[in-house]
Amino acid sequence: MLATFLLPTVPAEASAPLRTHAASKGKFIGAALATSPLSNETAYRNIAATEFNQITAENAMKWDATEPSQNQFNFSGADAIVNFATQNNQQVHGHTLVWHQQTPGWVQGLGASAMRSAIQNHISQVVGRYADNPAVVSWDVVNEVFEENGSMRSSFWYNTLGQSYIADAFRAARAADPDARLCINDYNVEGINAKSTAMYNLVSSLRQQGVPVDCVGFQGHLAIQYGFPNDLQQNLERFAALGVQVRITELDIRMQMPRNSSKDATQATYYRNVINACLAVTACAGVTIWGFTDKHSWVPDTFGGEGAALIYDENYQQKASYTAVHDALAGGTGGDDTTPPTTPGTPTSSNVTSNSATLSWSASTDSGGSGLAGYNVYREQGATDTLLGQSTTASINLTGLTPETQYQVYVRARDGAGNLSGNSPAATFTTSEGPVGGGGCTATGTVQTQWQNGYVVQPVTVTNTGTSAINGWTVTFTLPSGHTLAGSWNASLTVSGQTVTARNANYNGNLAPNASTTFGFQVNRPNGNTQTPSGYTCA
Ligand code: G3I
Repeated sequence: MLATFLLPTVPAEASAPLRTHAASKGKFIGAALATSPLSNETAYRNIAATEFNQITAENAMKWDATEPSQNQFNFSGADAIVNFATQNNQQVHGHTLVWHQQTPGWVQGLGASAMRSAIQNHISQVVGRYADNPAVVSWDVVNEVFEENGSMRSSFWYNTLGQSYIADAFRAARAADPDARLCINDYNVEGINAKSTAMYNLVSSLRQQGVPVDCVGFQGHLAIQYGFPNDLQQNLERFAALGVQVRITELDIRMQMPRNSSKDATQATYYRNVINACLAVTACAGVTIWGFTDKHSWVPDTFGGEGAALIYDENYQQKASYTAVHDALAGGTGGDDTTPPTTPGTPTSSNVTSNSATLSWSASTDSGGSGLAGYNVYREQGATDTLLGQSTTASINLTGLTPETQYQVYVRARDGAGNLSGNSPAATFTTSEGPVGGGGCTATGTVQTQWQNGYVVQPVTVTNTGTSAINGWTVTFTLPSGHTLAGSWNASLTVSGQTVTARNANYNGNLAPNASTTFGFQVNRPNGNTQTPSGYTCA
């Protein structure tokens, strides 16, 4: 049933929560919620209630949760989500009815006719339960039906029923709740590519046949190391032209661990870009983030060595990405605020180590009405300056810097309407030498686990073999030909050809004589090739 939670209201205050800014733009900003922290953690509940006006159940509405045995329905988790949303005036997107994962074995083994009936019954019971509930407004009817090359995914659904299961599922959902908005949802369809074009063609043809497809969901599981899909807005627009609503349904932006201020800044830019793309397309209903805190995220369990994909850290502190989402949603809500904040003072550096530094500057003020939102810190590098980090206060701790490198940096202030101040005068500092001290170190790597086309090296043990403490180390090693790095943890890795250089993280560079620390990494390799890295050296 459709509800009216998102009607445009008066312009929001700059410091208001995300949902206030989103609603003032007629959009939703959502989060996927997990039932366990929702019942056990106050901070989780409070942020979920305060910041978001849309909720998706991360797992509680999937088939294995709602109908674990045939015709035995269990709505405890689903009801908990819907009740929470009702209490907090949030809309619920039902996720998901027909998917090849998290579907019980009893369904997968059915013959064609019994499988068709099972789909009808499941959809009628699950969608039917919430049809008169004003909080539940939309459903992912089918999820992830394509392979990466745009062919139909060879799932048990497709292999048993052919493509007809898709239209059948949409018709069953329409019959169960004529008012709900019905979506098809997938990943790696954010940019224009073979998979998104297959989606486009399918949606177009289903609608021509009168199949009730109202909406397309673009999951948005992105990673900073793979680049941003710059044609996202253009892609959303081509789907909108088919007459469907579009939405970003599962946004998270992961990185190779450990985090540092520069990766956080890149991630913040990606979050901002996604919000801006949705704001720019009238048919885009909103953006749902897949979780909100790094404490509860599917990413580290799935991508070895990657994480920190969300807008709050694991201690429920807002990250630069929160600020980016906030500022993007607030953009323009200062009404006619085109006045930038005053230019910040010259930054001064302190606590400079081989890979980190603290900068402080005198604060800016903002008189344009939208209020001071924070600061961007840039490194001057000729024509293309890089964003090193973002801060909401007049100082920042930069991490992940390169040893023995001169940094020329400046700061710009940002207001709630997105206006940027002039550049502060630049300051220069130089990071110290990486590995120093008496007598060297050694490194040895052990393959922990391997499979057809990849393996994990864990631990690489770094030992101070000298007689005095070292406060930074650099390990190099060689990847066999055709092998590529897929992730790492507890060190910062860069690759040149097949040579990998691993530098300590900011928390494991100090080693007393004879002390050891470890890091690890994951590698992709050609199928069946059993070579492993060699030539570990430490300096
Ligand atoms: O509930 C059991 C628990 O009892 C058991 O002890 C534990 C041990 O592994 O597993 C728990 O189930 C896990 C479940 O999440 C709940 O935490 C499953 O193993 C785990 O596979 C499952 O992962 C979910 C994944 O879908 C399944 O494919 C993730 O939480 C969820 O974020 C993820 O979400 C999907 C979207 O639905 C569709 N798009 C992609 C997205 C990310 O994969």
